[in-house]
Amino acid sequence: MDKVKKIQQLKEEKNAVIMAHYYVEDDVQAVADVVGDSYFLSEKATQVDASVIVFCGVAFMGESAKILNPHKTVLMPDAAADCPMAHMASVEKIRQVRRDYPDVAVVCYVNSTAELKMYSDVCVTSSNALKIVKALPNKHIYFIPDQYLGRFVANQCPEKEFIFNDGCCPVHHGLTVESLEKVKKLHPEALVLVHPECRSEVCSMADYAGSTAGIIQFAKTSKAQEFIIGTEIGVLYELKKQNPRKQFYVPEQPPICADMKKITLDKIILALENMAPEVVLDEDAVKKAHKPLIQMLELAK
Ligand code: 13P
Ligand code: SF4
Repeated sequence: MDKVKKIQQLKEEKNAVIMAHYYVEDDVQAVADVVGDSYFLSEKATQVDASVIVFCGVAFMGESAKILNPHKTVLMPDAAADCPMAHMASVEKIRQVRRDYPDVAVVCYVNSTAELKMYSDVCVTSSNALKIVKALPNKHIYFIPDQYLGRFVANQCPEKEFIFNDGCCPVHHGLTVESLEKVKKLHPEALVLVHPECRSEVCSMADYAGSTAGIIQFAKTSKAQEFIIGTEIGVLYELKKQNPRKQFYVPEQPPICADMKKITLDKIILALENMAPEVVLDEDAVKKAHKPLIQMLELAK
């Protein structure tokens, strides 16, 4: 039996839904029931009827789905698929910042461990960070773990004072102004669309900086016909599907997230057959990390 049919059959047998991020391989996106950016997926995770969620993405995404659905089984086809940036902040530093700035709001990008979420006030994703930070009454904002998304928000939020953390996404950090300018020279009409996890100077030179879903939406609604894409190349699958007549270009060495690419059809089959690896979090973590995630869903409405 072919792999896609096998997955359909197992999904029915196990009452499972497959959720996938735009950065996973094309064939995995094609087999998924729900594909989206981090925000869309966490919102959808609160609405699924199935008793099993197969999360095709990295660990923090599966963990968020579990925190939002503690009574469902959440499977990660590859337990080793992790986001390095999710670990680039510390509870100790959060405590220190809280001591130094008693009015601070700890704003935690969802690309973070469940432990970091437990000690944060509110979660954000790249599609709602600005809206949520602006809605907070606090003057001081400690933005973890991504310094670049933090700076991107801070530039549009002059009324607040930010404390930055030094984490970043190693995949987006590799993207430079020079590499984008090289593509621009070849395609001068193309608009540059980047993710706010990119370096600040990359965001500044772009025609648009926004979340994965924001980039897809921009390309769809823009009158332009050519685009240079400054984010993980998995997004090209949806961009080309939605815009078959538009042209998309990437730098010579495009950002590729090795962890997202760990998810394969074979691993989805194995996960459904064995009902493992399962996301398991202790009760305290689920309880404490639930609050900032729900707070995000509320404030992002
Ligand atoms: P989005 O919030 O755009 O889905 O991005 C998630 C991510 O991991 C970007 O590297
Ligand atoms: Fe993490 Fe970067 Fe991969 Fe996104 S692209 S999951 S931030 S390593």
